[in-house]
Amino acid sequence: MSEPSVTTDQHLNIADREATVPAVELRSIRHGFGQGANFLPVVEDVSISIPDGQFVSVVGPSGCGKSTLLRLISGLSPPVGGEVFVHGSKVTGIRTDVGYMFQVDALLPWRTVLDNVGLPLKFKGRPRAERDKHAREWIRIVGLSGFENAFPHQLSGGMRKRVSLACTLVASPRVILMDEPFSALDVQTRSLMEDELMAIWQRERKTVVFITHDLEEAIALSDNVVVLSARPTRVKGVYPIPLPRPRNVLDIRSDIDFHGLYTRLWEDMRDEVMAGYQQERQAAGMSVSSPE
Ligand SMILES: Nc1ncnc2c1ncn2[C@@H]1O[C@H](COP(=O)(O)OP(=O)(O)O)[C@@H](O)[C@H]1O
Ligand SMILES: [Mg+2]
Repeated sequence: MSEPSVTTDQHLNIADREATVPAVELRSIRHGFGQGANFLPVVEDVSISIPDGQFVSVVGPSGCGKSTLLRLISGLSPPVGGEVFVHGSKVTGIRTDVGYMFQVDALLPWRTVLDNVGLPLKFKGRPRAERDKHAREWIRIVGLSGFENAFPHQLSGGMRKRVSLACTLVASPRVILMDEPFSALDVQTRSLMEDELMAIWQRERKTVVFITHDLEEAIALSDNVVVLSARPTRVKGVYPIPLPRPRNVLDIRSDIDFHGLYTRLWEDMRDEVMAGYQQERQAAGMSVSSPE
């Protein structure tokens, strides 16, 4: 394995390079869509290192390339330029050691909760008894014992999210990618899910890369928050979140330090949100005046 490259000043680096191999490393990533004159540059020279066991959120304006970055980490598509490493090995295809949770749940409607949660283990060729044992354990951890034989349509939105979370964690991924996983939930259910995610993370200490457009959610959950610029996206800043752990995501929002962090981050993000907003209006063929 080659040594990690030395980052330049503008490449923000969360990991202490002297310590251990980062869990996730993006090196000088460039990406875009389309060909020739129609090429849309989306990611421009992004380098990020995330140490093992950290909870890192990525925030940035709508359409800046957050989901694109996650897809590159998962190996769903290769970057146009640069390299992605997970635990020191270069990503060249879909990784089985990376779990992915999407905004829209991907549960199979004709399968029970037990069989949905066991599916990632089935893909790994594990025998039925082993699948069921691990699936039942994760169903219990996410608070759904008793619903093993229910079908997704019999569950509330929050319960389906719990099933999705169990599906993401059942195969013990070392790295968990979450793309706005709770944004479709009502506010109360969302807070409960955030709290449960925190409790699970505090016990498991997996590396989490969490995408959200919600700065409060990012601060409440994370060790570090990466702010991305408008498209073509670059790392605008990395903010350590020195709030005490374990955290209760409801209580932490009223912490005085929380407000200071929020103000600093929002200062950094505001211009990017406005730039992203104007890009989206332009793309939709609308005039680019500022919103009220
Ligand atoms: N497969 C694709 N083909 C063409 N354009 C795409 C594709 N995926 C994303 N894009 C474009 O790339 C930009 C970034 O998309 P995305 O990563 O989904 O943004 P975000 O998640 O930050 O809202 C958007 O302008 C989007 O339209
Ligand atoms: Mg997205």
